Amino acid sequence: MMSETAKQISPALAAVVMAAGKGTRMKSNTAKVLHAVAGKPMLEWVLDLALEIGCERAVAVVGHQAERVRAHVEGKYGAGRFLFAEQREQKGTGHAVMMAAGALQGFEGRVLILSGDVPLLSQETLKPLLEAPASLRVALLSMVLDDPTGYGRVIRGEDGRVRRIVEHKDATETERQVREVNSGVYLIDAALLLQWLPRLQPNNAQGEYYLTDLIRFAAEENAAAEAYPASPEDLGGINDRVQLAAASAVARQRILRRHMLGGVTIEDPVTTYIDRDVTIGNDAIIEPGAHLRGATSIGEGAVIGAGSVIINSQVGPQVRVQAWCHFEDAVVGPACKIGPYARLRPGAELSADCHIGNFVELKKARMGKGSKANHLAYLGDAEIGSGVNVGAGTITCNYDGKNKHVTRLADGVFVGSDTQFVAPVSVGAGAYIGAGSTITEDVPAGALAFTRAPQTVKEGWVRKKAERDALKTAEKKT
Ligand code: UD1
Ligand code: CA
Repeated sequence: MMSETAKQISPALAAVVMAAGKGTRMKSNTAKVLHAVAGKPMLEWVLDLALEIGCERAVAVVGHQAERVRAHVEGKYGAGRFLFAEQREQKGTGHAVMMAAGALQGFEGRVLILSGDVPLLSQETLKPLLEAPASLRVALLSMVLDDPTGYGRVIRGEDGRVRRIVEHKDATETERQVREVNSGVYLIDAALLLQWLPRLQPNNAQGEYYLTDLIRFAAEENAAAEAYPASPEDLGGINDRVQLAAASAVARQRILRRHMLGGVTIEDPVTTYIDRDVTIGNDAIIEPGAHLRGATSIGEGAVIGAGSVIINSQVGPQVRVQAWCHFEDAVVGPACKIGPYARLRPGAELSADCHIGNFVELKKARMGKGSKANHLAYLGDAEIGSGVNVGAGTITCNYDGKNKHVTRLADGVFVGSDTQFVAPVSVGAGAYIGAGSTITEDVPAGALAFTRAPQTVKEGWVRKKAERDALKTAEKKT
């Protein structure tokens, strides 16, 4: 009851995500906030967090490559989920938030200000801000660093309360000794923010509009600003690709830990790469060197073999994927046995209990329950029923140089080894295809079809050839 009441009275939240900066030190043609941390663009980590904590309104301030960043976000979350404010010229963090003021009009509650380049921030770390007493006008997260160079220093009064933040370039030698720095994550009352933003002036060493001046404004009003120290690991901003890799490593460890504590065996966390949005069922076993990417899901009790790479694919429960398989946009039904060395390309869809063996490639191919292709096959643009046996070396000739065509194998078809299906072609239920056939015409249900040339046997041919050869050699010598 208590917590429900508390929920009802806790004020609404909005978020402003600053993401306009160029990210010069990335030395990239791609906007910094679109670079991936553990397989997910860093801006998405921040936007996900804003959604997770229940922000009713979230505004991304975009500038550098604004259109591309916006298109990315709308592509991922749908249009309208986030609002956008454009900051054409980057005149400082205060200026960035000023650009978002229009989108915040009419919002009553508190505004969380985040940076698009701080992807490791978590709900847990935000807790002190979200639970800050309502009497505070501004709350921020700080961090205590051995080397605070470059950061804004948190300047506290004799009473220990925060007075202001001074940027490194504006700080005196004494102020530079302070090791508590501003992380750039703030919570502020929306009405005050809108009231105070117009008061910001670029009268400082960098000639920028400093968002940090808001702390001073709040402190001047009954010392109503506070800073909560939090873990630098969560609050580190990403400016270059060394920091990008370091953040990915931290994110990766967290992801792996979550899965392990959730009941997944990860044999070697050091060599296992799992993207953030991957889901894995209980008692799955992930062998060393596996990569699970994008929107992949792995079912309960599945085993993912060493070195396998699985991208945007659904792997059902109890599936056994042996070493060195590669899946992309594929669906694997329960209890299938795949690999080693199998490739499932986009549109590969296996029902339950299928077997796909070594050096078998499927593309846009569906297979019914219990069907098998165990060795060396290419099945592209294929509709394969259940209980079908595809022999070694079978190939669907699906491409005529211009168009793709479909091969249909109905339930229970038996395909002898080294068969080519020249699509479009269909084989009826239960039919047999003799080994080594090139099938160009439809085969009716229950029939046997083969295109094999009759076998010729010449008895004693080897001995006769040897005699002929010997004669030739003798003729040459004379
Ligand atoms: C800011 C803080 C500093 C703090 C530091 C933490 C100010 C004045 N200083 O420093 O106290 O220690 O963050 O990292 O706020 N951005 C825009 N538009 C701009 C400028 C910045 O969108 O005009 C975005 C950047 O893309 C980035 C974030 O704001 O995501 C922070 O900008 P950055 O230049 O890294 O911060 P500083 O101003 O150096
Ligand atoms: Ca700056």
